[in-house]
Amino acid sequence: MARARLNSGNASEKELPKAKINKQSLQNVSRLLSYLKPYKGKFIAGLLFLFISSLVALVFPAILGALIDAAQGNYKYKFLPPTLNAIAITGFFLLAGQAVVSFFRVVWFVQVAEKSLADIRRDTYFKLVTLPMNFFANRRVGELNSRISADLSQIQDTLTTTFAEVIRQLVLMVGGITLLVVVSIKLTLAVLAVLPVLIAFAVIFGRFIRKLSRQAQDKLAESNTIVEETLQGIANVKAFVNEAFEAGRYDRNLRDVVSIAVKGAKFRGIFASFIVFCMFGTFVGVIWYGSVLVSRGEMHTGDLTTFIMYSIFVGAAMGSFPDLYANIQKAIGASERVLEILAEQGEPISIRESDNVIKQRIQGNLTFNHVDFHYPSRPEIEVLKDVTLNARAGQKVAIVGPSGSGKSTMAALVLQFYHPQSGTMLFDGQPADSYALTDIRNQVAIVPQDVLLFGGSIRENIAYGKRSATEEEIMQAARRANAHQFISGFPEGYDTIVGERGVKLSGGQRQRIAIARALLKNPSILILDEATSSLDSESERLVQEALEELMKGRTSIIIAHRLSTIREADKIVVLEKGRIIESGTHDELIGREEGLYRYLSQLQFDTSAQT
Ligand SMILES: Nc1ncnc2c1ncn2[C@@H]1O[C@H](COP(=O)(O)OP(=O)(O)OP(=O)(O)O)[C@@H](O)[C@H]1O
Ligand SMILES: [Mg+2]
Repeated sequence: MARARLNSGNASEKELPKAKINKQSLQNVSRLLSYLKPYKGKFIAGLLFLFISSLVALVFPAILGALIDAAQGNYKYKFLPPTLNAIAITGFFLLAGQAVVSFFRVVWFVQVAEKSLADIRRDTYFKLVTLPMNFFANRRVGELNSRISADLSQIQDTLTTTFAEVIRQLVLMVGGITLLVVVSIKLTLAVLAVLPVLIAFAVIFGRFIRKLSRQAQDKLAESNTIVEETLQGIANVKAFVNEAFEAGRYDRNLRDVVSIAVKGAKFRGIFASFIVFCMFGTFVGVIWYGSVLVSRGEMHTGDLTTFIMYSIFVGAAMGSFPDLYANIQKAIGASERVLEILAEQGEPISIRESDNVIKQRIQGNLTFNHVDFHYPSRPEIEVLKDVTLNARAGQKVAIVGPSGSGKSTMAALVLQFYHPQSGTMLFDGQPADSYALTDIRNQVAIVPQDVLLFGGSIRENIAYGKRSATEEEIMQAARRANAHQFISGFPEGYDTIVGERGVKLSGGQRQRIAIARALLKNPSILILDEATSSLDSESERLVQEALEELMKGRTSIIIAHRLSTIREADKIVVLEKGRIIESGTHDELIGREEGLYRYLSQLQFDTSAQT
């Protein structure tokens, strides 16, 4: 449990896995790159400016060297003016140009990346919300969430920074080495003999250290999860007097964090010494050998300066490649995961809200015709078996039966969350698939077993049933749902914020909000999945009244736990292990000596008589 939570909770902080770079993965990524198309102009201009600014950067070492040589009367470069001050001024002009170019390159790259990423995010999110229910059965919300946050952020980083960096460093490295050779072949050979080895060593060692610090971070994240879990379940911790147990758990975790961090410290120390000694050692070595060349008259002082600066460029470029490469690998992995979602088959729902109008009216006749069903995620468990049920428009049909017998599953089938493997669902005698999916869902409303309110105001939560509703309609619905009174009791009334960060409503209050929401939707078919937790008799009366109001004039499927609430139903069906074993009116069913309904009723009557 703790582990599962840890993984899902910290998915966005975790290192993203890397993917192999090959033809297939590059092909995949190029599909995501098509999102850049609308911003092609800016992107290419950005690339061009990037290229220019990298080339200009290569000129500066030459200018600085030329300045120093000019001081000693040497004018080596034909492309620079032959006075010291003029060389300096050229340098400043170039700098100014460089500044302008850099500005636009950064701005354009970020604009392109932000806009195309927003497009990808939008598409991914829309795809996610239109995916069929079954898709969600197999995945954790945390994982999906991390695709939208962590994976897309990785792609964004790569587009804004990594990509540009790769180009810049490539230009600097290739250009730098070429110019090194131009300045001094001898010195270049000397540098190239040592530099790559040193850099490779530094990179590998650096990775090892990072791995250690990541372990420490993971451990720390784990201890944060302990804090989060215990605080969320603080009532449980206290009720079971497990404060000391939790504190011990936390303490053990912290010790691990410290021991990993301490182990890493030694390697960090070695790394620091290595950098100081070897890197700067190379530096001293180059200057030493260069000075020897200068003293022999084989090289100018300015050239040595130029040379040192190019070596720094080349060294930095070489050192940056492994990281850049790793980043690209991660971005490719991220792209593949995002593309996976984009490639899924969504439900046929339009992206425009204005398309959401009812095209085909449903009167409210509902039929289950020999329906067999199992959840796609659990094919071995047959949930509904040969279920046949007919509700005529305006009728009240109750479904009763033991827990797990398949009642909520029948509601899910009416809403077209799933489709039967055999048999058909009919609306007004027509098969469900002859209607647009949205037509069915727009004319069926459900008051679910556990009402979930969105974070937001009560008004917004009621209006979720009909987003075009006026203030008057919302209040009217709340009144009819017996909710107006308690809502007006809050100081902020309909603006009261509910949900995770807001006021906690009681079960009965939440249900009445759900009823108001359903009333506002004004469906032809209504499904009531009665809450299992019983309400006190006063709220039960209020909820019951609200339900009666809601059921007027429409087909109602009532999934009932308290059998007292369904005496008036036109038909009662008794479901057991996915099969309808009895059906009839209350009087008919209660008359059956051996019937399950009679047995269940007696049980409830007995317990209510005792209490
Ligand atoms: N999303 C799902 N994926 C796989 N199996 C499911 C899913 N939802 C429910 N089931 C299984 O289907 C069976 C019927 O569940 P259902 O929720 O329809 O029962 P119910 O009659 O509504 O029970 P209750 O009275 O407790 O609400 C159960 O065995 C349950 O484990
Ligand atoms: Mg249920």
